[in-house]
Amino acid sequence: MRLQETLGLLFLWTLHSAVVYGWPAPEVLPGSKKLQISTIKATAAPARIPRSYSLNLAQRSQSPSDIHVLKPKRHPYNKDQNRLARSNPVAKRVVQAAGYQKRASELQGVTPVLDSTQPSQLKGQEKLVFESQANTYKPNTNLFDATALKKPLPTNRWWLNLMLEKGADPIHPYPYLVRCATNGSSIGLPKFSSTAQAITSDQVIDWQIGDDDKQLTKRLVTGADALGVQVTWSGTGAAQMKSRFYKGMAFQTFVMTQMTPLLRTGHAITSMQPLENAAADMPALTRVKLNSGAEWLIASKPAIQWKKTSGQLVGQAKYTGYVQLAHLGDKPDSNIQVLQQYAGTYATEGSVTYSKIEGSGDARSANIVLLYKTNADAGGDTSYTYNTPGAPSTKQLLSFVLPHHVDRLDSKSLLSPGLTGFRSTKGPLKAIGSNSISYKQKIETVDFTGSNVIADADKTRIQSQLTKDMAKVEVTASDPYFFGKGVARVARLLQIAQEIGDTASASKLQTQVIALLQPWLVKKSNSDPLVYDETWGGIVSTVGLKDSSADYGQGRYNDHHFHYGYFLYAAAVLAKHDINSFAPLKEGASQLLRDYANPSMTDEQFPYMRHFDPYDGHSWAAGLFTFGDGRNQESTGEAINAYYAAYLYAKALGLKETADFYEIVLNMEAASARRYWHPTRAQATELYGEAFKHNAVGILWSSKADYATFFGADPEFIYGIQMIPFTPATKMIITQDWVKDAWCSDQGACPDGMKTAAAHANKNGWAQFLYTAYSVVDRNSALENAMACKPDDGNSLTNTLHWILTSGQAASPPV
Ligand SMILES: *[C@@H]1O[C@H](CO)[C@@H](O)[C@H](O)[C@H]1NC(C)=O
Repeated sequence: MRLQETLGLLFLWTLHSAVVYGWPAPEVLPGSKKLQISTIKATAAPARIPRSYSLNLAQRSQSPSDIHVLKPKRHPYNKDQNRLARSNPVAKRVVQAAGYQKRASELQGVTPVLDSTQPSQLKGQEKLVFESQANTYKPNTNLFDATALKKPLPTNRWWLNLMLEKGADPIHPYPYLVRCATNGSSIGLPKFSSTAQAITSDQVIDWQIGDDDKQLTKRLVTGADALGVQVTWSGTGAAQMKSRFYKGMAFQTFVMTQMTPLLRTGHAITSMQPLENAAADMPALTRVKLNSGAEWLIASKPAIQWKKTSGQLVGQAKYTGYVQLAHLGDKPDSNIQVLQQYAGTYATEGSVTYSKIEGSGDARSANIVLLYKTNADAGGDTSYTYNTPGAPSTKQLLSFVLPHHVDRLDSKSLLSPGLTGFRSTKGPLKAIGSNSISYKQKIETVDFTGSNVIADADKTRIQSQLTKDMAKVEVTASDPYFFGKGVARVARLLQIAQEIGDTASASKLQTQVIALLQPWLVKKSNSDPLVYDETWGGIVSTVGLKDSSADYGQGRYNDHHFHYGYFLYAAAVLAKHDINSFAPLKEGASQLLRDYANPSMTDEQFPYMRHFDPYDGHSWAAGLFTFGDGRNQESTGEAINAYYAAYLYAKALGLKETADFYEIVLNMEAASARRYWHPTRAQATELYGEAFKHNAVGILWSSKADYATFFGADPEFIYGIQMIPFTPATKMIITQDWVKDAWCSDQGACPDGMKTAAAHANKNGWAQFLYTAYSVVDRNSALENAMACKPDDGNSLTNTLHWILTSGQAASPPV
């Protein structure tokens, strides 16, 4: 091994160890610490920045990135007027699948809930309420084609590592790990390992794909759509290589023009076996075995006669065609039978259709269709005859689906036999042979009010608590996160006052919520005013813009849905209560919503659905920070709150289609939170392995799941951050099955279980959340314990009482 390679591996290993092992182990319970929420508040600010952030800073100081010396680019915005200059033609959108989406839905017989190719119903005046400012963190145009991707730029997509810093960190198109350097791509199949606290994966690379003549010297992100990203490599000559990365593809495909294909491996190639072509127009197939034990299928069309030298395969000069790689999993002999039937088809475009909601009551559902266009659709290669039973009669994609897809797919869609030995962080992957992943999403009905009718005696009780809480309706926090939590707390009181018919309090609270929001959304007179970031296209806080780690990194697009979701909840309650007095706030609120969940692909100011990942079925919180483990999300409770608020807001404004769209997204986010963040012990074993000992995940990354939080390791944080804030939507994720399973104090069977965590929290705000959750199992004991705790700054005793009375359950008889 050459020195360079050794150093490279060492660096990889160090990076990997730091990312994976750099986390302090959670404290051993029972602890004696008495953490009050105020203490957490003091330490929370820098901590929401993902911890590997410090690692990235270190990396950056070792090899200073050239990002900071790039000149700010001119944008099609007229700075003075803070609006899109009319003379400019409509910028080409980042999401290019819009046109295809329409055709896609026709193809599937699905009626979209919303035409995302049209301007959003939320879009009011062209002029933004917020002043414009440039972001000091500039997009690195050495990494993407600035004519293909224009502002508003994506900031939280799963593949964003490709556009950040040096673009060197990997992306995770499950089941693979991929890196894209200037001279080519590299690919590996990560191995996962579980411990009691986490499931992590290695970053071992099996192949480097590039050209033998060293013509490829430049790589750019050259396009993106609703599901994936396109990368193009080029150089001085005619040589070019292109790849589209989508999650779940069994084959990684590289389309080459005028170049000498090179596949290099750090392992030794121990055998190479050309396979018989079963159909005339199939690609040539070669089975390759490495001394690591891994086996791969390599397809090429036109056929490449690979020349093997030590550790590399070289093709013929000036080759134009495509090369595909697929790992053969844990049963190469049977997996290869499936893979070779599907070789030759690759995705060229991806789209998502959310259908109209059908049915009523408990039977409401929507269809989610992820549809890929393929090279076969593009003409030329359409259908072929393959003389093996079970082979598809038309060319289809071979792709993997996640457990939450498997739950809802028609089981006939799964291939049998499928592919074995493949998984993602989220659990085992199953194979389907289809150009679409189409499934029914159940739509649970939620509203402003909770589901239980409030009995008169309970109303009296809530009323007396509300009267006490009316004394504490000020909000002093100056940052968007804690201010948001505060204003949402007061808005909850307003909503509850309305529900119990206390019009006098409702009227006072309405005045208070308006007074709180006005400086932020109308006058911009608060100390940390929101501004429009004209560099990327979004609304950020001034403090966050100045300091990338301030306000939880929100100047770099961390956590916008968490922060603004709280504002939108308050706005929704105001709008529902009295649309006229809400009117002056409407424009600012709608723009904030367009920042984090813009439902239109043609919006020139904000990217489409900033955080939401339709393949994974949930949002990614991390913004313009790069990590070896890809994207992450911690607080599913706040993500759910963001789409719940969006739904209520659109509903209060009478925007039916938009409300329905958000209701679907809310249900998808909640379903993924239940599935991946709130597993019972049995489910956790299935997803995260035998060794993983918990029934909650604190932070879910692209390539690891952690029982941890960014602000501390106390178990009440891990459970609590997956629940807050408590609203009628919270019952979507606080299921009785899960709470029964998690409510445990046996340190052997369930270390740091929810009951232990609640006791450890010692009557603070976190304890209150956990007891409130327990009310879905035993309302009375939960009520007593929860009401004895001191509320978190985003919560009140009135809300706690109301939640338990409207969502709790009488104790079920012992099993
Ligand atoms: C790209 O360059 C790196 C660093 O020199 C090298 O290790 C790698 O093998 C090259 N990849 C290809 C495909 O040539």
